[in-house]
Amino acid sequence: MNRIGVLISGSGTNLQAIIDATESGYIPDTKVVVVISNRKDAYGLERAKKHNIDSLFINPKNYESQIEYNEILKNELLIRKVDLVCLAGYLLKLELNFIKSFEGKILNIHPALLPKYGGKGMYGHFVHTAVLNSGDKESGCTVHFVDEIYDHGKIIIQKKVPVLEGDTPDTLAKRVLEQEHKAYPEAIKLYFEKYRK
Ligand code: GRF
Repeated sequence: MNRIGVLISGSGTNLQAIIDATESGYIPDTKVVVVISNRKDAYGLERAKKHNIDSLFINPKNYESQIEYNEILKNELLIRKVDLVCLAGYLLKLELNFIKSFEGKILNIHPALLPKYGGKGMYGHFVHTAVLNSGDKESGCTVHFVDEIYDHGKIIIQKKVPVLEGDTPDTLAKRVLEQEHKAYPEAIKLYFEKYRK
């Protein structure tokens, strides 16, 4: 049985897509064993509870530094023997030691076609606003391996959407999010079939 740990900061619709894909068997022989949020109000924690998945709010403010905070996250994942860490709307930067501890076993989903519109500060509306301001006729989402540089690791899957006349950041975000919910489960299935270390 493959074991997944998911880090979230918000609504958790990507988390829900991953949970559904493991429970349906689309991602075979795999289960989400823990969901960890840096925000107490992340609705994704409720989603986890509804599926009887360990759900932890770990408050960064309780720790001296990001490095110490990442050690706590790392230990919570290691004791649960996770085979894969999925960032699903997780908004904090991971520290080098954490990344090295899960080398080649951390995925992230980004709401744009990396390497465009990635990097520090490029999340949520900022991404979609940048795409609209650029005049690009298409956008999409990217699932990629996480390394020590923001939004930089090897790309596993990308799905494209058209940018339509009159699009706002909200309408574009909604269209991209629909594809995210397909891309992430597909990427995780691929990971365990092809990339698993
Ligand atoms: C998604 O747009 C994802 O691409 C980005 O953060 C958002 C998370 O949404 N990383 P949700 O919390 O999974 O609903």
